[in-house]
Amino acid sequence: MCGIFCYLNYLTPQTKKYILDTLLQGLKRMEYRGYDSAGLAVDRCCGDKSTVIVRERGKVASLEKLVNVSQELNMDEVCNIHCGIAHTRWATHGEPAPRNSHPHRSDANNTFVVIHNGIVTNYMAIKNFLVEKGYTDFESETDTEVVAKLALYIYNENPSTTFQELVETLIGMIDGAFAFLFKSNKFPDQVIATRRGSPLIVAIKADVEMLTEYFPILYSSDRTSSSGVNRNEIPSPSGHSGGDLPNGTTNINGRISPGTAMTASAGSGEFKLGGKTPVEYFFASDASAVIEHTNKVIYLEDNDIAHVDNAGGLHIMRTKKKHANEKDFRSVNTLQLKLEEIMKGSYNYFMEKEIFEQPESVVNTMRGRLNFETGQVVLGGLVEHLDDIKRSRRLIMIACGTSFHSALATRQILEELSQLPVMVELASDFMDRHTPIFRDDVCFFISQSGETADSLLALRYCKKRGALCVGVTNTVGSSISRETSCGVHINAGPEIGVASTKAYTSQIISLLMFALLISADRISMMERRKAIISELEKLPKKIEKVLELAEDLKKLAEQYQKENSFLIMGRGYNYATCLEGALKIKEITYMHSEGIMTGELKHGPLALVEATMPIIMIAVRDSVYVNCQNALQQVISRGGKPILICEEGDEEIVRLATDKDGNCKLAQVIRVPKTVDCLAGVLTVIPLQLISLYVAVRNGLNVDCPRNLAKSVTVE
Ligand code: AGP
Repeated sequence: MCGIFCYLNYLTPQTKKYILDTLLQGLKRMEYRGYDSAGLAVDRCCGDKSTVIVRERGKVASLEKLVNVSQELNMDEVCNIHCGIAHTRWATHGEPAPRNSHPHRSDANNTFVVIHNGIVTNYMAIKNFLVEKGYTDFESETDTEVVAKLALYIYNENPSTTFQELVETLIGMIDGAFAFLFKSNKFPDQVIATRRGSPLIVAIKADVEMLTEYFPILYSSDRTSSSGVNRNEIPSPSGHSGGDLPNGTTNINGRISPGTAMTASAGSGEFKLGGKTPVEYFFASDASAVIEHTNKVIYLEDNDIAHVDNAGGLHIMRTKKKHANEKDFRSVNTLQLKLEEIMKGSYNYFMEKEIFEQPESVVNTMRGRLNFETGQVVLGGLVEHLDDIKRSRRLIMIACGTSFHSALATRQILEELSQLPVMVELASDFMDRHTPIFRDDVCFFISQSGETADSLLALRYCKKRGALCVGVTNTVGSSISRETSCGVHINAGPEIGVASTKAYTSQIISLLMFALLISADRISMMERRKAIISELEKLPKKIEKVLELAEDLKKLAEQYQKENSFLIMGRGYNYATCLEGALKIKEITYMHSEGIMTGELKHGPLALVEATMPIIMIAVRDSVYVNCQNALQQVISRGGKPILICEEGDEEIVRLATDKDGNCKLAQVIRVPKTVDCLAGVLTVIPLQLISLYVAVRNGLNVDCPRNLAKSVTVE
């Protein structure tokens, strides 16, 4: 998914080389999000504030090469004040190519340049409008380019308009999801950032002490805009008016004039930035890009407009208050993330590191929440809503991809311990069906990133219908964590590899802790709860034992690396493991792979079974063990030679797969420690994570950034 980065140094002298390295490094930190091209824009030189754009298809390293040979940039020049913007693009409109890469420009003079994450849904209407007005020099197939040209159009209509007024008018004309950064040689040394639906943060590095943790919001009035441009000029095919702007025009009122230090109205004390005080600003799609510079971060909300003016002041504006209780400030948060946490350490791949971190990440998920001695579970984020949850009509778990699988993996134990009906929904399908939702429903939104567009849409849909919305995310400050009424942070640590691994196991643990919490006062469940809690305590050691299989699994990967297909079969708690294992294999190795519920074998999938078909079967000694044994026999009797994942010490199932002459019909046996039924999936999924990793590595594939995929899917 696209990554946005900006570095603005105010009264902080830096060489052009430093500035460019900072921009490129910011992009590299977000590489894990997935992208196909990259670009940046900087000033030509201190005396000439015209903009130079460099764009390239492929990796940031390719862009870096181009930057280093650019004749337009003097690397040794020192800039006292400078604003540079940079972008990694994940193609939506137009193939990956330099002309479609960001920044996009308004004209041949690069008067306005823009970078964008998201989709402008009414871009065709805007394009037609601009063409009619004589703005015809379109260079790309993107939806973003119209935004740069629209900026120039608004400016040309009224050259005395301010940068803020211009952007506010502009976003009022746009439908869709976005995070934008604008740079212009008409407004040198400044940047404007705004978002609606796509994540964006501002990070601040200043030597002055920040005396307040709040940053005030300035509201513009509804009076006629001095930009002189009216949103109604653009026909709106969707009928949706962009953002919270009224149809019509607006202007910014009450803004602080350049050079004036900002005074926090909502917080305590004063907050002075800019003026004579040196300050550096970073804007980014996520915190991993800024953490090496500063840990002071503001999460922008939808329709916020953040402006750094030419006196180094930061202003956050909105058009109007939607309701009286709306926060009129943004908090300055102190990030706890450490750079080492997002680095690969001694591992070759982030995915590898994250798989091997699981003994630790599951502990972090439980730390301070689960008392193994007393059996007490405390989920601080749910305390105030626990009674409402217990009284609810049903629990609805909504998610995408791996997060959906974690809901599936815990549905049975949630039903058993909560005694409530539990629905598990793919967010996109949930929305397609316009699923009925009631005020006494409790809807869980499970998302590693907390930014997945489909899950976020479903959240807003459920919220509107009065349901209690609970977030289960791995990202503090993410849209889902902010927009839900309460929630659980899974605390797995940053997950960089596109293929989700440790977040999956931590999601399972989080949901399981929720099931334990909701059943805490049920006498009839005491023994069951005790058994689960005791196994949760032993889980990290058991995960370590599974990870010891790594060398064997490497050899197995070597044997299967040239296959085209993999079937993964199981049932009960392990059905989710089959789906998750198949997802790992397809996304990382590009092999076809399918998770099959063995109860369905005879209803179709059995036709696929033959001697040459690679099959993995999962069977642990739980309530569906006998059914799994039957399925194994069915597969073997059709000539299948499956790899079996079973429990340590289970000789019975191996005997079953051995004919009377002592020939074992299994291709390989992978043994995992025995645990309680509802936790088995945490152990059985790890061999599948490792097999997909090792097959991909052997085939020379990009494990951390598989083709066509992005870590954070912020578009529908
Ligand atoms: C799985 O490996 C993928 N990364 C993907 O399926 C992911 O789980 C899905 O896109 C949902 O993302 P989220 O958890 O960040 O919402």
